[in-house]
Amino acid sequence: MKIAIGADHGGYSLKEVLKKHLLERGFDVEDFGTFDTQSCHYPVYAEKVARAVAAKEAELGVLVCGTGIGMSIAANKVKGIRAAAVSDCFTAQATREHNDSNILCLGERTVGPGLAMRIVDTWLDASFLGGRHQTRVDMISALEK
Ligand code: RB5
Repeated sequence: MKIAIGADHGGYSLKEVLKKHLLERGFDVEDFGTFDTQSCHYPVYAEKVARAVAAKEAELGVLVCGTGIGMSIAANKVKGIRAAAVSDCFTAQATREHNDSNILCLGERTVGPGLAMRIVDTWLDASFLGGRHQTRVDMISALEK
């Protein structure tokens, strides 16, 4: 499975930790930057990852900024994207099972690397439950029209 990953300067260090972790788990990772801690604009990287996921060039995406919130707001502007800003494992599992989220957003300033890796693992290891949740996801998609 291919995972698109991206960050701004506020999430660069955690992105590097997560990229290494995902590669060690055997995922194919495409890194859309940023590639250092120089100040930059998070919507640039949110768009790159969101467009890759929306175009099915990657199955899922992971975005990191200071809080995960700016990335999620920006990524959710792209049609077909369901990005969730998450800071605990319960929510990580629920947003895959119920919302079929296709991008996980994390905050380097809000979660440490150990918890972030656990959140990513929980999210990746969970599956969409479909059924009544599919109906609701379809209702979300209808909002895009
Ligand atoms: C950058 O200072 C910060 O605003 C950004 O990383 C993110 O937290 C936005 O939501």
